[in-house]
Amino acid sequence: MTYKDQINPNRIPTHVAIIMDGNGRWAKQHGMKRMFGHRQGVQTVHNITTAAAEMGIRYLTLYAFSTENWNRPQEEVDALMALLVETIRQETPTLMENNVRLMTIGDLSRLPETTRQKFMECIEMTSHNTGLNMVLALSYSSRWEITEALRRAVQQAQQGLLTAEQINEDTLSCYLTTAGIPDPDLLIRTSGEYRISNFLLWQLAYSEMYFTDCLWPDFTVEHFYQAIVDYQHRERRFGKTSEQVTE
Ligand code: IPE
Ligand code: IPE
Ligand code: MG
Repeated sequence: MTYKDQINPNRIPTHVAIIMDGNGRWAKQHGMKRMFGHRQGVQTVHNITTAAAEMGIRYLTLYAFSTENWNRPQEEVDALMALLVETIRQETPTLMENNVRLMTIGDLSRLPETTRQKFMECIEMTSHNTGLNMVLALSYSSRWEITEALRRAVQQAQQGLLTAEQINEDTLSCYLTTAGIPDPDLLIRTSGEYRISNFLLWQLAYSEMYFTDCLWPDFTVEHFYQAIVDYQHRERRFGKTSEQVTE
C-alpha cells in the first residue's frame, strides 16, 4: 500500500511548514555547483505544492531564504534572487490553474527591486484564489519578526493605541508577519539537520516535528505523503493527558 492510500482524509493538517534544506549537498553529490541543487529544488517545490493543493491542505509555508542566508557568498545570493524571479514567472500559470494563493512573510525590503516587484505581481494576481495558501518565507527569520512586532507594539503604545493590559498571546500574534495564519500543525525539515534555524519560533510552539535525511531535491511526493501519515499517527495533547484528548 502506498503512503498516499494510507492518508486519512479527515485528518489532513491545516498548515504544513517546511524547511527545505540540502540543495547544496545534493549538487555536490552529483558533482555539480550549488545552484544546480537550487534549480532541482524548485522542481520539488512545484511537486509538493501541487500535492498539498490536491490534498486539501490550507496553508503550506516554505522557508526559501533566511535572514542569515544573506551572509552566503554574494554570487550565490545573486543567483538565488534571479532564480526566484524565474521561478515565479514560470510557476504563476500553475498557481492559477491549481487555485493557489501566494503570500510572503519576511523582510521583503531587503530583496532586489526586480525580485520584490515580481512577487508583488504574483501576490496580486493570485489574491482571489481560494485553494491552498502558499506562504513563502523570504528574507525571513523569527527573531527579526519578533523584534519588528515588538517595535510596532511599542510605537502603538507610545501613540496611546495600545496598553500593557491589552497585550496577550492573541494580540501579540497580530503583530507577527503571520497574523491571520493558523500555527503550523506539522513542521518538516529535510537533509538530516535537527534544528529550527530561526524559523517560526513563536508559531511552532505546539507543532509536530518531522525530520528526514532526504535532501530537498530528492524529496518526492511519496516522501511528503509519508510525513503526513506519520503526523496522522501522532497524539497531540497540548499539555493535557492522553485520556483527556481521546475521550
Ligand atoms: C536549502 O539548501 C536552500 C536554501 C537555504 C536557500 P542549502 O543551500 O542550505 O543546502 P545545503 O544545506 O548547503 O546542502
Ligand atoms: C535554513 O537552511 C533556511 C532555509 C531552508 C531557507 P540553512 O541551510 O540556511 O540552515 P542552517 O544555517 O544550516 O541551519
Ligand atoms: Mg542548508
